[in-house]
Amino acid sequence: MSVQTIFEMGRAGRRAFFCPTLDVPARDRDELLPERFQRKSPPALPEVSEPEIVRHYVRVSKRNFDLDSGFYPLGSCTMKHNPRLHERVAALSGYARLHPLQQSSGSQGALELMWRLEGALSEIAGLPSVSLQPSAGSHGELAGVLLTRAYHKDRGERRHKVLTPDTAHGTNPATVTMAGYEVVKVGTNADGGVDVDDLREKADEDVACLMLTNPNTLGLFDANIEEIASIVHRAGAILYYDGANLNAVMGHTRPGDMGFDIVHFNLHKTFTQPHGGGGPGAGPIAVSERIAPYLMVPRVERDEDGRFALDHDQPKSIGRLRGFHGNFGTFVRTYAYICSLGGEGLREASEVAVLNANYLLARLREEGVLERLPLAYGELCGHEFVLSGAPMKRELGIRMLDLAKRLLDHGIHPPTVYFPLLVEEALLIEPTETETKETLDEFVAVIVSILREAEGNPEVARAAPHTTPVRRLDEAGAARNPVIRQEEIK
Ligand SMILES: Cc1ncc(COP(=O)(O)O)c(C=O)c1O
Repeated sequence: MSVQTIFEMGRAGRRAFFCPTLDVPARDRDELLPERFQRKSPPALPEVSEPEIVRHYVRVSKRNFDLDSGFYPLGSCTMKHNPRLHERVAALSGYARLHPLQQSSGSQGALELMWRLEGALSEIAGLPSVSLQPSAGSHGELAGVLLTRAYHKDRGERRHKVLTPDTAHGTNPATVTMAGYEVVKVGTNADGGVDVDDLREKADEDVACLMLTNPNTLGLFDANIEEIASIVHRAGAILYYDGANLNAVMGHTRPGDMGFDIVHFNLHKTFTQPHGGGGPGAGPIAVSERIAPYLMVPRVERDEDGRFALDHDQPKSIGRLRGFHGNFGTFVRTYAYICSLGGEGLREASEVAVLNANYLLARLREEGVLERLPLAYGELCGHEFVLSGAPMKRELGIRMLDLAKRLLDHGIHPPTVYFPLLVEEALLIEPTETETKETLDEFVAVIVSILREAEGNPEVARAAPHTTPVRRLDEAGAARNPVIRQEEIK
């Protein structure tokens, strides 16, 4: 059954809600709201009844795949269960209904929460200063690169290049380009880490920064990190930590202790917040002392009497990166997550994330899956691992995309495919710490059954999915030519 848009369902005069009759006299109205801001005609909203609205959105939501209905091992995205407690805390009216323009005197609780969250993130990063402002990991990256430029400029230096490993997430080079720097790729060695010789050669006085995630997108911790940090610093450059993979090491090691100068967190990945589809997130950054003067404004400050205020007076600041203070609901959820787990709990979450990934890898190996889908690098992994589907493609005639689509027929969201780019037919699997052993075993059984099925009849996987509301979509076309606005229905 095709689903109409809510606009197509509308019928003139149908209503879900009736406002009380306006009883503000016209002259007061003009005084309260200048005439130029008053609407002359009602907004073009769909006219529908309440049952229609409820049914429409419930129906649409059922056609989607979500973490609440199935396993979602989307590598690099950390799609973990988000405890409902945090939703309840974030919905408390003192947080949810607070106006962002509320005076500091009337928002002490919210400011205190931000201040405490900054303190907790500073401790986790091992770096002294934090800004919560960026709205996503990639926005944190942009903040980091702009801070890097401000730091060099203040020292009278102009540098033009930023290094990113060839395993880097696409947002790293995109951010670098957006900030006006030239991207220079650094190679990967046979162990899956940064090629240190290549780095040494490229780290010259024109390099502003190296952006790195550790463990990297192959799920491998780079044991040469201290050497890497010293090469970068010797060149006068900044070492930037892409924190999207922090879930593997939180509580065990700290980016600041590894030598990083700037770190972004993906609160929506490592901590808690439903995410995906561009939904709200937060990408706070933590920085070392030498970068702190350039941080975004306003900063949350606490005075000697324990009162909180917003400080805009930071002469070297790069300014603001967005309106207001960030996605506040994400801060509340993250703070609730940190308080409910505590330091030991955060450490344990990382341990179980790594344990689950290694268990899954061992089970796939035990079932012979790695003969068709070999591990791209290493023996063990961090919180995720990359398989290559090259032998599967050659021997069974199905591509990684086919396997991914067939997983949907089994009620499992496919892991990340075709990333990292240096692995042929890549499959990047991240089970996270919130999945049970039974779910992981079920995933292995499904992969085995799909490969077996493809031995007999590869056409089934090639034509998958068969059971979803829509079949194969032109995903590249949808991303390149998005239709995001409903045209008015006549
Ligand atoms: C390694 C890595 N870096 C950066 C990002 C960007 O983070 P965000 O999606 O929050 O912008 C991601 C997200 O998928 C990632 O996996």
